[in-house]
Amino acid sequence: MTRFTRKHNRIGILTSGGDCAGLNAAIRAVTFRAIEQHGLAVVGINDGTAGLLERPVKQMDLTMKVFAGNYLRMGGTLLGTVNKGDPFAYPMPDGSVKDRSAEAIEGFRTLDLDALIGIGGDGSMRILSRLATQGRIPFIGIPKTIDNDVARTDFAIGYMSAVDVAVDALDRLQPTAASHRRVMVLEVMGRDVGWIAIAAGIAGGADVVLIPEVPVSMAKVAAKLKAVSAQGRNHALVVVAEGVRLPPETDLKADCRSAGGIVADMIAEATGAETRVTVLGHVQRGGSPNAFDRILASSLGAHAADLAARGLSDRIVIWDRGKIVDVPLSSVAGQTRALKLDGTLVETARRMGICLGD
Ligand code: F6P
Repeated sequence: MTRFTRKHNRIGILTSGGDCAGLNAAIRAVTFRAIEQHGLAVVGINDGTAGLLERPVKQMDLTMKVFAGNYLRMGGTLLGTVNKGDPFAYPMPDGSVKDRSAEAIEGFRTLDLDALIGIGGDGSMRILSRLATQGRIPFIGIPKTIDNDVARTDFAIGYMSAVDVAVDALDRLQPTAASHRRVMVLEVMGRDVGWIAIAAGIAGGADVVLIPEVPVSMAKVAAKLKAVSAQGRNHALVVVAEGVRLPPETDLKADCRSAGGIVADMIAEATGAETRVTVLGHVQRGGSPNAFDRILASSLGAHAADLAARGLSDRIVIWDRGKIVDVPLSSVAGQTRALKLDGTLVETARRMGICLGD
């Protein structure tokens, strides 16, 4: 295990990648634990790695007073974040990309910090771990992303709150679907994985859930919807993950419709049903963290502060079957965790008769 010796009694923290509910709860947990238990000063770096490229570096002192108000309950990140400012391939105004990693490392050095805690998803972990290695920066990661695709952790901060938003949408769509005898298609985020789609589909009573992990046969989807109708139900709910793999003739990138829009049109054509589409989008990233995300953020944040205080580095804190533990960053960085086809969520969906398009 990599260890370092504290010189300054100060640690830094930043958020990186797309925001989600629960980031402020995690920043709060790190700050509380670092100050109260370990007597460290905590410095928040603004705007992720982009803040490290500013001169002076964009930063703020995180004290107990900063958290006297509402942050535990608030969505977003009080530090700000970026999901496009990779310092190894930084987008320049003239359209070129430049390696600015040395500048980011130099920025970190100006803050006289013993360690950096980074809250990020899989992409951010890859960038931050590379930066930390190159700059010999002691680094601890905390996983967050509504997509829930960070390797090794069962849950990333923000995922369950996003699922709640999608379930709420299904709860609202069902009565209007029934009133108008329609098939309602809900498109959810998740990038290349179907974690939000399948969890929301199970909890929200969907008939069909289309996820990137399972290639879609529209014939199977149509058959399921016709069976629902034959059972005497006049409406149906379909959840589509944004990264869904549609039949080969569908070029998602070239088509100006959303993935959900394409599926809705295909359903209308194959079944004759009237369809409507809702694309949930960034609504899933906003709002208050639910209770689970506050607990997860508090547990992961406090553990990360302990690791930084003990002089550990190159670790990421995870939720592993109900326990908070830490594992080597290298076992997570650069990996994506897709849904397992023999995992609990996929199996539960199938057992509940939900059609996954295969
Ligand atoms: O990774 C989180 C996420 O919300 C994905 O689900 C989505 O595809 C993407 O970020 C959206 O990114 P942006 O905020 O840049 O539109």
